[in-house]
Amino acid sequence: MSEILQSTENIIANTTGSAIGSTVQPGNVASNLFQVLETISYWKIFVTILCLGLVYDQISYKIKKGSIAGPNYKIWPVIGPFLESLDPKFEEYKAKWDSGPLSCVSIFHKFVIIASTRDLARKILQSPKYVKPCVVDVAIKILRPSNWVFLDGKEHTDYRKSLNGLFTQQALSQYLPSQEKVMDKYIEKFVEYSAKNDYKPQIFFHEMREIMCALSLKAFCGDYITEDQIRKVADDYYLVTAALELVNFPIIIPYTKTWYGKRVADMTMKIFEGCAQMAKDNAAKGIQPVCVLDAWCKLIHDSKTSNDEDSKFMHREFSNREMSEAIFTFLFASQDASSSLCCWLFQIMADRPDVLNKIREEQLAIRNNDPKVPLSLELIDQMKYTTMVVKETLRYRPPVLMVPYVVKQNFPVAPNYTAPKGSMLIPTLYPALHDPEVYENPDEFIPDRWVEGSPASEAKKNWLVFGSGSHVCLGQKYVMMTFAGLIGKFALETNWEHKVTPLSETIKVFATIFPKDDLFLTFKRRDPLTGEIEA
Ligand code: HEM
Repeated sequence: MSEILQSTENIIANTTGSAIGSTVQPGNVASNLFQVLETISYWKIFVTILCLGLVYDQISYKIKKGSIAGPNYKIWPVIGPFLESLDPKFEEYKAKWDSGPLSCVSIFHKFVIIASTRDLARKILQSPKYVKPCVVDVAIKILRPSNWVFLDGKEHTDYRKSLNGLFTQQALSQYLPSQEKVMDKYIEKFVEYSAKNDYKPQIFFHEMREIMCALSLKAFCGDYITEDQIRKVADDYYLVTAALELVNFPIIIPYTKTWYGKRVADMTMKIFEGCAQMAKDNAAKGIQPVCVLDAWCKLIHDSKTSNDEDSKFMHREFSNREMSEAIFTFLFASQDASSSLCCWLFQIMADRPDVLNKIREEQLAIRNNDPKVPLSLELIDQMKYTTMVVKETLRYRPPVLMVPYVVKQNFPVAPNYTAPKGSMLIPTLYPALHDPEVYENPDEFIPDRWVEGSPASEAKKNWLVFGSGSHVCLGQKYVMMTFAGLIGKFALETNWEHKVTPLSETIKVFATIFPKDDLFLTFKRRDPLTGEIEA
């Protein structure tokens, strides 16, 4: 550094010296300058630029940080806490949320602001004028640029209107029979899998991901998708999750994570394209919908003879490719979050036999003691206690901790702070769901806190599990119905045990959150009426 300063001083001394001591000869100055430049090696120039860059990086960070919480300067110049972000820890996130309503970090050139109060989170989620969802660069390549999820503003709102009809209670009830078949199959599968291991507890993390994938694919594509295709997608889907991690290389290089992820996404969308065509053919024959693709084709068909406000969004051709891309976003949005909920729900139920017994009582009562009564909208509507359990699991262990957004224009997010354009702004969902003012003993699992009229059930503003505003989760009703049906059936027909380890209650962050020990379970068949467990 001192050599560089020396060289710079040399230039100044040489040029000014000649100017003062003699008549300025432009030729002399140029040749002096040339001589001095000759003495500066490339590495000195490089180091100078690097130092200036580092200073700029720190100053720019300080200006953007303003008065909000966060390190006073970037401890690791340029990269910031990049290495920590490769292996995110729940405790580190929590420490950040506790550090202030708004806090910040800077990773490489990205300035990241974290909002940790309920009201700030809601304000951000409901300000589409200032923010839009932030996606990793590679997501656009994997999900394809033409995908509807990348639309913004009015275009996005209009497109959503064409999809909302696929997830109404009425539409969802049509998918239940196919979903119930998947549940029956996996009850069998989980018991067999446990039997093969002499009913000793074993890791069920992968099995939970698989059942979630199978349930979604059946709901979305019905019988158009074959068992082999379901198995293939379920087996390979984790490659898409890995490719879309927040920190990933933005260019797709063969045989890297992103390359494998894109291959699986393309393969899956190809399957969905075929399914879309079959759904269109069936719709033309007037066959009743049993899956999302059928329901979509029917909405398009019915809209031709309807003039209501929402039908106009269906008055156009939806290509097989476009439909396949949308179905892929449903799978993408659902897979990790649903798997997270599934793991916690099965773990907690095994650890809380008092709660599980109440579910069993309710499930038999609403079926009038006939366990063979199939799932239906009416039946699920009566699952009051079971639904409270699902809701409490979502509150206690919300699968999505934070939702990254990007600032489109300077955003006065708080009276004393404006989020600069281009920064990442992350509303957090966890703190609102563990707010002791609304949820007494927030770190305890208490399903009864959700009885009608209770403070928890009245505090709608705190219920941020599915986000809020124009991008609020499209699948939230689907989640509540599917999980009430699923846990109800498993509770009646199986008995499962959980091996508690020191890591069972530790939260592992992998896109969403999971028990850190990957969930040790074992399943046995159970007589739904007598409760007898089969050997
Ligand atoms: C436990 C399960 C789930 C949780 C916790 C969850 C949570 C979320 C959250 C927090 C968002 C972002 C909302 C925002 O930005 O305000 C979201 C968006 C979304 N979710 Fe879910 N989700 C779940 C399951 C599903 C399922 C099963 C589907 C589809 C069937 C789905 C479809 C979507 C879609 C399409 C979006 C983006 C909506 C848009 O940009 O307009 N999600 N979800």
